[in-house]
Amino acid sequence: ELRHCGGFMYHITEADGHLSMERAAGGTSAGPARPGYAITNQAIVGPLLEQMQEKNIADTIEGLTGFANRYYSSAPGIESSNWLKRKWIELAASRDHISIEPYAHARYDQRSVIATIAGTDKSAEVVVMGAHLDTINLLGTKDTTKAPGADDDASGVAGLTEVLRVLAASGYKPRRTIRLIAYAAEEVGLRGSQEIAREYKKNAVNVVGVLQLDMTNFKGSAKDIYIFTDYTDEGQNGFLENLLKVYLTTVTVGYEKCGYGCSDHASWSAQGYATSMPFEA
Ligand code: CO
Repeated sequence: ELRHCGGFMYHITEADGHLSMERAAGGTSAGPARPGYAITNQAIVGPLLEQMQEKNIADTIEGLTGFANRYYSSAPGIESSNWLKRKWIELAASRDHISIEPYAHARYDQRSVIATIAGTDKSAEVVVMGAHLDTINLLGTKDTTKAPGADDDASGVAGLTEVLRVLAASGYKPRRTIRLIAYAAEEVGLRGSQEIAREYKKNAVNVVGVLQLDMTNFKGSAKDIYIFTDYTDEGQNGFLENLLKVYLTTVTVGYEKCGYGCSDHASWSAQGYATSMPFEA
């Protein structure tokens, strides 16, 4: 009704849909233990932040919107995934501890793209940061239909891409493994992220935190960033606000509700993982 992106979660079977509703009614299911949220890496993060460049973010958005659309089953949708994979491979080319892999989905041809920045710690803890690659035109999307999705969600993918560039250029090796994921098929019921989150849960991957960036470059409200309180983790949301207070002191923050599972973080919270979704307006 609200014409928001996503808008619903697709379930492969009726039983799966019922299970999802039961979980939602009973609060979040048990997931990995939450980490401590102390902020202690100012000496490393400060100089990295200074290297983030607006122009690179704009360039990625321009590249992604160069495709007529990025629909999960269209030819340009598939091409755009390959384009992003190549861009990420180029950015990480000089670093052995960073690998870029397409993630093939079972029921459609658009692939998610995953960048893995290997952590130095043996604990196998993983941090996931994501955005969605695909777009949709709600009147119907064929190969030539326009659905550029500059804000929704080339903006989020572009942010991740600039993070990858800075981390690769600096040679920074995180303690925990970081996975940057550009999800396929978000606009058709969070299908790409649901498949990935389920696989991680099945394989007991110790994901200690999930961040979703979906629509981050349009200033449409009084405050700069609104942190969604539903389908997310309260402790991690507080951590996010504290990070902003430490690192981006001029950014103003509010709290808001999306009202439904409005982006890929909901796929992870459904599996019990701690999620956050900072939104532009
Ligand atoms: Co979106």
